[in-house]
Amino acid sequence: MQNTPIPIYRPYLEGNEKKYLNECIDTAWISGGRFVQDFEAAFADYTGAEEAISVTNGSVALHLALHCVGVRPGDEVLVPTFTYIASVNAIVTAGAIPVFVESRPDTWLMDVADAAKRVTERTTAIMPVHLYGFACDMAEVQQFADAHGLKVIEDAAEGFGVRIDGTHIGTKSDASTFSFFGNKTITCGEGGMVTVKDKDLAEHFRVTRNQGMSPTRRYWHDRLGFNYRMTNMQAAIGLAQIEQADTIIGRKREIYDAYRQRLEGLPLSWQEAPAGRFESSYWLVSLLAPSKEARESIYMSLDDAKIEHRPVFIPAHTMPMYAENKETFRVAENIAERGFSLPSFPGLTTDEIDRVAAAVRRALS
Ligand SMILES: Cc1ncc(COP(=O)(O)O)c(C=O)c1O
Repeated sequence: MQNTPIPIYRPYLEGNEKKYLNECIDTAWISGGRFVQDFEAAFADYTGAEEAISVTNGSVALHLALHCVGVRPGDEVLVPTFTYIASVNAIVTAGAIPVFVESRPDTWLMDVADAAKRVTERTTAIMPVHLYGFACDMAEVQQFADAHGLKVIEDAAEGFGVRIDGTHIGTKSDASTFSFFGNKTITCGEGGMVTVKDKDLAEHFRVTRNQGMSPTRRYWHDRLGFNYRMTNMQAAIGLAQIEQADTIIGRKREIYDAYRQRLEGLPLSWQEAPAGRFESSYWLVSLLAPSKEARESIYMSLDDAKIEHRPVFIPAHTMPMYAENKETFRVAENIAERGFSLPSFPGLTTDEIDRVAAAVRRALS
């Protein structure tokens, strides 16, 4: 088994996925259907969100959220530069201007003190991004947003199963978004969810997701809308996944603990959550090598052992389309130079964890 490749992720499809998908095909309900409502209800129930609106993927979830909370062309939106590019692209798709914010060296997430320096009279929203299963301090973000009259849109694409003081993230802000891509904690293949607190606003999201069509008059479109609907087949998989959410997240916690134990004593830094109050879902176990060169050695050692790895995100301000102001973000750039993620899927065995840890250890000793 020593030479069997270990992927970075493999979805955990051990429940009712096939049964529910067969139901879609047997009943011919493949576009809309009962699973869409059932998945939304199960998602709201699991997270404690007031309203959950399913969509095609986590990227359009962000665009829908920005559009429906009222971010307009020319507005400025605060967003961490250290994020997946979809956070930033969604702001631009809404016609708004992304204003990049530095990361904190401990959590790697948006530094609210830095955001404070970047507020102008055109700033209308802030988008904290919860990366790798770790949460931004939402009490701090909300207090800051209230002080400046900003809308809060949480990008919780990677944050399913993450709690602060027992409350699931993405349930208390103006709008929050989740992704169900194949490598996410729960998956639909592709898929996304938006959560909001308010029933009327949720209705606006539902209508806008459906090309702006009136729920009471067919083919009457009283507002701008988009086709961002989730299919019944995506939702069928999503429902089967959420039924297993506790098992999946429980297993991911065990994997994180196992890595920490096996990699102890090595010169690696771990993404940190403030102690006690924050419960991570450990979406992708991610850490920092002591240097860029050391990360290369780790990659080589993992490659030799046929173990897949991935770098952390490259800061958005360095991408050609966003690089015009030439500003440096030292913390984010340093994390990006040294950060990498290890295989973190629920089905990872103890032997495989041993193999991964041994390969990392070989590179650093
Ligand atoms: C932080 C973040 N935001 C947004 C997205 C976009 O989600 P999707 O891939 O479902 O469009 C992702 C997904 O990879 C993500 O990691």
